[in-house]
Amino acid sequence: MSELPLIIDDRETPKFWVNRATMVEPKILETERKSIFDKCWLYVGHESELENVHDFRTRRVGGRPVVFVRNSVNNINVLVNVCTHRGMILETRKEGNARKLRCFYHGWTFNTEGDLVTLPGEESYPKGWKRQDRCLPRPPHVDSYRGFWFLCWDKEQSQSLKEYLAGASDYLDLIADQSASMMKVSSGTHYYSMEANWKLLVENSIDGYHALTTHNRYVQMIAASGVDFKKRGGSLTGQAGAPGRGGMDLGNGHAVVGSPDLSHGKIPGNLARDFQNDNERQEYTKYRSELIKKHGEKWTDRILGGRNLLIFPNFIIVDGVGMGCTLRTFYPAKPDYLEITGWEISPPEISEALLPARKTGFLTFWGPAGLATPDDVEALARCQQGFASYQIDPWNDISRGMETEFPGGTDELQMRTFWRHYNELMTGEKAIPESAPYKMFASEVEAS
Ligand code: FES
Ligand SMILES: [Fe+2]
Repeated sequence: MSELPLIIDDRETPKFWVNRATMVEPKILETERKSIFDKCWLYVGHESELENVHDFRTRRVGGRPVVFVRNSVNNINVLVNVCTHRGMILETRKEGNARKLRCFYHGWTFNTEGDLVTLPGEESYPKGWKRQDRCLPRPPHVDSYRGFWFLCWDKEQSQSLKEYLAGASDYLDLIADQSASMMKVSSGTHYYSMEANWKLLVENSIDGYHALTTHNRYVQMIAASGVDFKKRGGSLTGQAGAPGRGGMDLGNGHAVVGSPDLSHGKIPGNLARDFQNDNERQEYTKYRSELIKKHGEKWTDRILGGRNLLIFPNFIIVDGVGMGCTLRTFYPAKPDYLEITGWEISPPEISEALLPARKTGFLTFWGPAGLATPDDVEALARCQQGFASYQIDPWNDISRGMETEFPGGTDELQMRTFWRHYNELMTGEKAIPESAPYKMFASEVEAS
């Protein structure tokens, strides 16, 4: 492993540097698997993906195969998706509805509670052999917050999910409160990969500084439709921070960059194109009024402000308001290779008039063949290529906004937050936060 520290967090100068060895060295990835992915609460899926009893989704969480399933009495289970006979992946479909999960190899069959219910030739097993001993294992900890389900692979984990989420739970509230019932993940999933280290995507997903350069093609397209980004301001377009605006440390490595809706409903999100017609505008106003009735104006302005939220270590919510909200999680196969899954989540009550902009946003902005994601993939892959010279210049500079009381959206406090917690888990050195501990602002709590 690199002889140099993983980060230099110098409060005097001040400067914050990250060692590029963290992006390259296989030994560091091994330690990350043990010290981060095997220890933290990790995102599994959203409740709305399992609408009916026996609906299931299979996925890998922290590198391990799981089935996320609704059982016959409507409870949600997370089961290890590996046959207890001789270890084959049990359910191979990505999603479906099944009362029974049957292994392709020798036909052992489990119900959606994980019980082994039938197997061919059971009579040939020894007398003391019991089916009950061969149920599907479960992750040691599984819990949910406002419809978002998480697991933790660490038996010793003593923090509840709510404690782990710290200030990030307020931001999950801002997502969940977009619907009077339950937010709904749209059908269709993005699966893609990039030749880049996973932490580059963490940084990129909460990086306001790159928006106007890397995504210049998108910005030009929106500008050509009549939007003036400078007039809009907003956290991703360089506006200075203020309490509740810009980048924030939410505790436990979680961070956010975002801003309340400073236009009070006049625009459908900072990076969104404008309303396309009066009908769209009216429907958005109607939707906003319903939120105000339920939550008050201040909380509604926060709900509709948009944000890029990191839940440490690998769950991102990029909420572009009217242009859609993307959930994204990922896991490193190798130091320089990353697999990503993305979903769109919407309030189900939103009118037909507002849906096209959200679907278009998911496909043409965040999609792997859209207008933004390919630019990010290209940028991150080129960083990874650049790290071939990491022994010559090992340092990435993440110092923007270090002397600012309230860092803005194009500053880098949110990334330093990630790296400090990362360093603490990797080395045991206690992270000292840069800003005062996060508090939701009292006036908004009263209004909610
Ligand atoms: S490995 Fe599944 S039935 Fe044999
Ligand atoms: Fe980007």
